[in-house]
Amino acid sequence: MITIKDKLFVLDTDKTTYAFRVMPTGHLEHLYYGRKIRIDDADGIADQLGFAPGNSSSYDKDNAISLEDVKLEISAPGKGDVREPSLELINSDGSFTSDFLFDGCATSKGKVREEGVPCSYGEDAEVLTVTLKDKENNLMLKLAYTVYAECDVITRSCEIINNGDGAVTLTRVMSLMLDMDPGDYSYITFNGAWTREMGKNVQKVGMAKLVNSSYTGSSSNRANPFVMLGKGAFDEDYGEVIGINLVYSGNHYTSVEQNPYGKVRLMTGINPNGFSWKLEKGESFRSPEAVMTYSASGCNTMSHNMHDFVNAHIVSGKWKDQLRPVLINSWEASYFDINEHKLVKLARKAKAAGVELFVMDDGWFKGRNDDTSSLGDWTPDKKKLPHGIKGICDKIRKLGLKFGIWVEPEMVNENSDLYREHPEWAMRIPGKKHSTGRTQMLLDLTRSDVQDYIIKSMSDVFSSADISYVKWDYNRNFTDIYSAALPSDRQGEVAHRYILGLYRVLDELTKKFPEVLFEGCASGGNRFDLGILSYFPQIWASDDTDAYQRGIIQNGYSYGYPQSCYTCHVSDVPNHQTLRRITADTRFNVAAFGVCGYESNFCDLNKFDFNEIKSQIEFYKKNRRLMQYGKFWRRSSFDDGKILSWTISSPDKSEAVSMIMQSLMTPNSQSDILYPRGLAEDVKYHIENRKTSFDIREFGGLINHVVPFHVKQDGFIHGVIAKFVRINSESESHEMYGDAMMYAGVHLNPRFASLGYNDTVRYFPDFGSRIYEIRTA
Ligand code: GLA
Repeated sequence: MITIKDKLFVLDTDKTTYAFRVMPTGHLEHLYYGRKIRIDDADGIADQLGFAPGNSSSYDKDNAISLEDVKLEISAPGKGDVREPSLELINSDGSFTSDFLFDGCATSKGKVREEGVPCSYGEDAEVLTVTLKDKENNLMLKLAYTVYAECDVITRSCEIINNGDGAVTLTRVMSLMLDMDPGDYSYITFNGAWTREMGKNVQKVGMAKLVNSSYTGSSSNRANPFVMLGKGAFDEDYGEVIGINLVYSGNHYTSVEQNPYGKVRLMTGINPNGFSWKLEKGESFRSPEAVMTYSASGCNTMSHNMHDFVNAHIVSGKWKDQLRPVLINSWEASYFDINEHKLVKLARKAKAAGVELFVMDDGWFKGRNDDTSSLGDWTPDKKKLPHGIKGICDKIRKLGLKFGIWVEPEMVNENSDLYREHPEWAMRIPGKKHSTGRTQMLLDLTRSDVQDYIIKSMSDVFSSADISYVKWDYNRNFTDIYSAALPSDRQGEVAHRYILGLYRVLDELTKKFPEVLFEGCASGGNRFDLGILSYFPQIWASDDTDAYQRGIIQNGYSYGYPQSCYTCHVSDVPNHQTLRRITADTRFNVAAFGVCGYESNFCDLNKFDFNEIKSQIEFYKKNRRLMQYGKFWRRSSFDDGKILSWTISSPDKSEAVSMIMQSLMTPNSQSDILYPRGLAEDVKYHIENRKTSFDIREFGGLINHVVPFHVKQDGFIHGVIAKFVRINSESESHEMYGDAMMYAGVHLNPRFASLGYNDTVRYFPDFGSRIYEIRTA
């Protein structure tokens, strides 16, 4: 609900309140963001401002206040606020002081997706638009606040309009600035690199600024735009936590700093590094939308708010709320070495295992045998696909599978017909040496002819056969940022214009192919953000499919993104990224807590492993709605210790699936306690583990304690026995009330500890895990 009273603005969601007012000077003073409170007027809530202390500057001679220590909604340089500004520009006279003062406001109901910059949408959304003016420089600033009451989310974006005669140059337009009263804050960011995305990083907020930003051209795997701010003591289920994100896929920036008086300022928006934007007379510039949520009960609630928001107000189109198919992707099974025969053979096996969608990854187009050539030439390689895309697609469809395809449309290899024909379409500085990434170059998506080419060439591919799914990849970072189509004083616009060009392409193609399930990818999670999710309902979370690393990566994503958005594949061992061997059940157990798929050579699996996969897929399909759309709860993670524990519960509390996984095993430590979440306290539930079996060779020479003859470890006889004998997992079940499960915990069967082994013992080696189904009894 939005309440406006005497220039006091109160934005209420179901459980939170955000408030600000117009100061006597005309500036917007931020008052409060936190748990829901009642506010009639600003009395007692606003800072009592008396005078400008010490050597701080006074705003003007009538208002002897210093903006340096006022909580503000926006800040620009030159009027006494010497903290980091949220808005910076060069006026037409060359000065860079701005003074935006309140001019008016309006409210409206409902928000629709607009063309241009992606944004959230919702019928019940309430929008407050506050207009400010810098009269001396003829500039107007519109701040738009959108309230999503039911998921406790408020968003904000800015638009700046040049009403003057001369051009101004914008050098910083932050989407959101959040000034807070003094407190003990922690800044939590999610950082990493290729194959190790989303590592949780916690830092204390102090007087030296902390910045989480990307400068790769994309939202990046180095620093995801989602961040959190915790106040005082907090954990998964306790304490005050703010979550912040940006609906944007390019260079982003989120800083936090404390001023000398203890107040804390956070801001988020387009990264000002390398950014400038020339705004001619009459033109306007719109920032991406920033998203914030607040929880008074720890990170899980904050995540639930973000998850609900993303599922309801970001993801759109046919696949919104829809069950995602179990797919198999050809990449790790064959890499570039694919052909119709091989793929159909894999697809046949996949169908028998229960897979629903077959994805032909990289390598299918003209001359594409490694990563040095062909990007840009989107016609099938005749040697690999003699009957074209349609030929293989029809064969796969005939097996009863849907068919999907990999593309990387924003790129070009120098060794391609496209580059030979249009070298000017590649992003490079004319006449200068350029850098490459994965031997490829970016196409200059700031250009409308390049955008049109991508739309046309992709439309041709997508309509060439019965294609149900597209994996849209993007495998390099920006270098040599330059567009030959823009004048020299607009080169600071290239990085942002590229993203706007991308959005136009994605908008047109997703509208043109509404049935297709699009999956974003950028060498895994190098562009995992709400901008991409506005067009593609799911994103390949990481090229790393090692279950231990995935436990860390998916745990990181789960803070800001619902599990319906991140795709997780079970792959072969030793794992291709880490050479680690983790049992098939753990590989599945981790992948099941997201959109589960496979990336494995099913043709090479032995009978047991194949049957294990079959039963995994059966389990996943049975619990699919829950696994993809249930409430995701974190209990513990490898960041805090050795146990990773997640639960997904159904909104009606009738069922849940919990997982427990360890990193390295501690000898002679037998007990584990599972604490499921999201259950009704007074309802009785039945809990049982998913049954599986293990290769007898996992027990090595211990086999000699149970067979009457000597078996040489890993020898021929050992192999023969392993072909016929498996070690069954324990069978464990309990009936307990929800409160007993959640608060006393389910005390699990003893772990393997060398001695006393019997069939109740839980085989739980390094990276061992179990998944438990919980249903009302
Ligand atoms: C990227 C993706 C992989 C795969 C390859 C193909 O690395 O992240 O999943 O599609 O490209 O070249």
